[in-house]
Amino acid sequence: MNTIGWIGLIITIIAAVAALGIYHLVITEGAYLGQWMVTWLYDITAHEYDSIKQFSPEAEQVFLGEPLSAILSTQSTALVLDVATGTARLPITLFEQPVFQGRIVGLDDSRRMLTFASEKVEPYRDRINLIWRNAISLPFPDGVFDAVCCLEMLEFTPDPEAQLAETIRVLRPGGCLITTRRRGWNAAAMPGKTHSKEAFEALLTELGIVNINILSWQVEYDLVWGIREGYAEPAASHLEEVLACPACESIGWDKSPKELICDACGAIYAVSDGIIDMHRVKTR
Ligand SMILES: C[S@@+](CC[C@H](N)C(=O)[O-])C[C@H]1O[C@@H](n2cnc3c(N)ncnc32)[C@H](O)[C@@H]1O
Repeated sequence: MNTIGWIGLIITIIAAVAALGIYHLVITEGAYLGQWMVTWLYDITAHEYDSIKQFSPEAEQVFLGEPLSAILSTQSTALVLDVATGTARLPITLFEQPVFQGRIVGLDDSRRMLTFASEKVEPYRDRINLIWRNAISLPFPDGVFDAVCCLEMLEFTPDPEAQLAETIRVLRPGGCLITTRRRGWNAAAMPGKTHSKEAFEALLTELGIVNINILSWQVEYDLVWGIREGYAEPAASHLEEVLACPACESIGWDKSPKELICDACGAIYAVSDGIIDMHRVKTR
């Protein structure tokens, strides 16, 4: 090959590597490289997440806070789970609704996202618990939350359908699900991670969700509301009533400001910056 040929080859290789990098790190945010990569990318960009997203507080209230608080308004002690809470987007808008008097549990795999969440929820500290943990197995029994939210997260997980099933598992029958469906051109760029509107509705139906409402919302997401089929009485109003020890699965805690200690097996979970560290413990 002559010099021009070599230069052309090198430029082609550099362009291919750059395109691959943009696809894997920017467009799909590490979704095909493994959970560790997704979490690492959120860890290193957590400080600019809110400024990148530029959520409008008014729009958050109209689309999330007000409708969810209205649904929960008959329950003074509602318990809400926000799976992949990030920097506490959902908790903030829900706590700003005077009608909402319940409590929220926010869980995320990125410690840095939770650090920012923890700072933002400071005024509501006595009504929120933050847990550092991968949501692939949620440390809660079946059907204990009155509402479960999971916004802008499913497509980044190793198995979005299994993650959705796990999320619905902990919602009580009659409880409210809010989630998102990725749409637009970059949904098409994430094969196996995203669903058409019809396929997502069919999946939710198969998982026992009724009254499904898929709304156009943001440029990249539909907002999806539904109710878990059936009815069960509200089961709990506080994290300690539902938090199952990831080591032994029993519920019952001895609490100090810096630790949670499982009554049954003695496993110790550190608490710092208002965040419970259940990161490394696998459910049996
Ligand atoms: C786009 S952000 C959405 C955050 C928040 N729900 C919102 O709407 O602003 C995605 C979040 O999902 C979290 N995440 C991704 N995979 C996760 C997993 N398997 N378990 C828990 N959190 C996860 C990331 O750490 C990140 O905070």
